Amino acid sequence: MKDILQVKQIHKIYGAKENQVHALRDVTFSVRQGEFIAIVGTSGSGKSTLLNLIGGLDTPTQGQIIIRGHNIAALGRKELTIFRRRNIGFVFQNYSLMPVLNVYDNVALPVMFDRGKHVDHEYICEILKELGIWDKRKRFPNELSGGQQQRTALARALANKPALILADEPTGNLDSATTVEVMGLLKESSRRYNQTILMVTHNEALAQACDRIIRIEDGQIDYTKGGETV
Ligand SMILES: Nc1ncnc2c1ncn2[C@@H]1O[C@H](COP(=O)(O)OP(=O)(O)OP(=O)(O)O)[C@@H](O)[C@H]1O
Ligand SMILES: [Mg+2]
Repeated sequence: MKDILQVKQIHKIYGAKENQVHALRDVTFSVRQGEFIAIVGTSGSGKSTLLNLIGGLDTPTQGQIIIRGHNIAALGRKELTIFRRRNIGFVFQNYSLMPVLNVYDNVALPVMFDRGKHVDHEYICEILKELGIWDKRKRFPNELSGGQQQRTALARALANKPALILADEPTGNLDSATTVEVMGLLKESSRRYNQTILMVTHNEALAQACDRIIRIEDGQIDYTKGGETV
């Protein structure tokens, strides 16, 4: 199988001088197309930083990130925006839904942005139904519970059928039954469209159900507890 993602000797330093935070240190790994990877680690260990860098939302201080053969740091701003929209689906820790758009429009937004791309209405309806938010499609984010907002954010990430899905605790706010459903949907989607998923989770049982676990401690990959092998 091909590597869809290569992370090469990444460092990320936030701030300057006495305020410096070395959030990632020499992080290197590759991911094959279709893999479902769990990223685990204590709070502040660098998980969101890593996802943001892979998604091209921030740039590494040092090192390279190569997605489908493209060094994303070498892409211009406009190219990066288009590349991200076509290839990457994001689920953020804070959902980041558009407050002025209803559920359906939030989900369809990344597809509508991509001029020339046809909005697959049936597919969007299907994921809204599978995620149990079909009856909320005309509601606005502030009329939804945390779990419903989370599922809307997940539906939005899936809407473009992206090759790479980056999910920061997509089940963090869900009860255990919904968590199982959401995980099932992610797995089904990744199998159906040969999608690659990197999912941050604090739930060890969920992590164990993934193809591979990458453990991060203090900004570094922790190889001592098994899981990630080079
Ligand atoms: N924009 C920023 N500016 C300065 N420091 C930051 C910034 N973002 C993150 N950090 C710091 O970098 C480190 C890693 O943060 P990160 O958000 O990646 O952790 P995390 O593993 O996602 O934690 P959590 O599980 O709580 O979400 C932390 O020490 C954090 O305080
Ligand atoms: Mg985080």
